[in-house]
Amino acid sequence: MRIGILGGTGPAGSALGLRLASVGYEVVLGSRDPQRASSICADLARKWPNFELNLNGGDNHTAANCELIVIATPWDSAAAIVNDHTKELVGKIVVTMANALVRVGKEFQPLVPPRGSIAAHIQAEIRLSRVVAAFQHLPATELGNLTHEVDSDVLICSDDPTATAVICEMVAKIPGCRPLNAGTLSNALAIEAFTAVLLQLNVRYKTRVAPRLTGIPDRGDAG
Ligand SMILES: NC(=O)c1ccc[n+]([C@@H]2O[C@H](COP(=O)([O-])OP(=O)(O)OC[C@H]3O[C@@H](n4cnc5c(N)ncnc54)[C@H](OP(=O)(O)O)[C@@H]3O)[C@@H](O)[C@H]2O)c1
Repeated sequence: MRIGILGGTGPAGSALGLRLASVGYEVVLGSRDPQRASSICADLARKWPNFELNLNGGDNHTAANCELIVIATPWDSAAAIVNDHTKELVGKIVVTMANALVRVGKEFQPLVPPRGSIAAHIQAEIRLSRVVAAFQHLPATELGNLTHEVDSDVLICSDDPTATAVICEMVAKIPGCRPLNAGTLSNALAIEAFTAVLLQLNVRYKTRVAPRLTGIPDRGDAG
């Protein structure tokens, strides 16, 4: 499956793209500046010579033409970028990892965007696409360090159960990640807002936390 990442040149998009390429996906990092995206891909290939990475840079249009799309821009450009590519996204799974947060002094605080979450807002903008909220809690540094497993649960929600199943399968391929089906997009509000808590813990304990839930004996299923 060819995965395109809109805003794929930032820490989050490039790390997710690298990780997915490392487990065999073909990935296009999209950018407003395709040369920047290509140069980031070349740097990643140099940094990880022992991995066969099918990772290429391009513009956001090229990324949007892939089979599955990830939105990895800042939250306040997520709706605009999907609107720029509505036609390419029709019928496709569109994953958003964006969190609406602000830093106030030393504290991270969640914002409540239109329709309660970035994911629900995006779904309302591109009604003919199948929006999935996932990866919001994974620290980019851990995601982009291929010498380590990521060691995190990944909460996944969507109004389209088939799309949830596809992303559960994708997450299960990432070493250390356990996919958990967290229901419909109405839960994206809680998932996105919880990222503020995790970032606060990072600051407080000078680390990079990721969530692990107890009480679920088996791997998360896609049902
Ligand atoms: N950083 C993390 O650890 C992490 C972890 C999980 C989730 N997230 C979420 O993932 C998203 C991306 O995080 P990030 O830290 O990678 O963000 P970022 O570096 O601020 O932005 C990512 C990319 O988005 C593009 N972009 C920026 N402003 C844009 C605009 N107005 N219109 C279109 N594209 C724009 C830029 O690419 P070009 O200039 O190349 O076009 C930029 O490299 C955020 O919503 C964040 O909440 C982050």
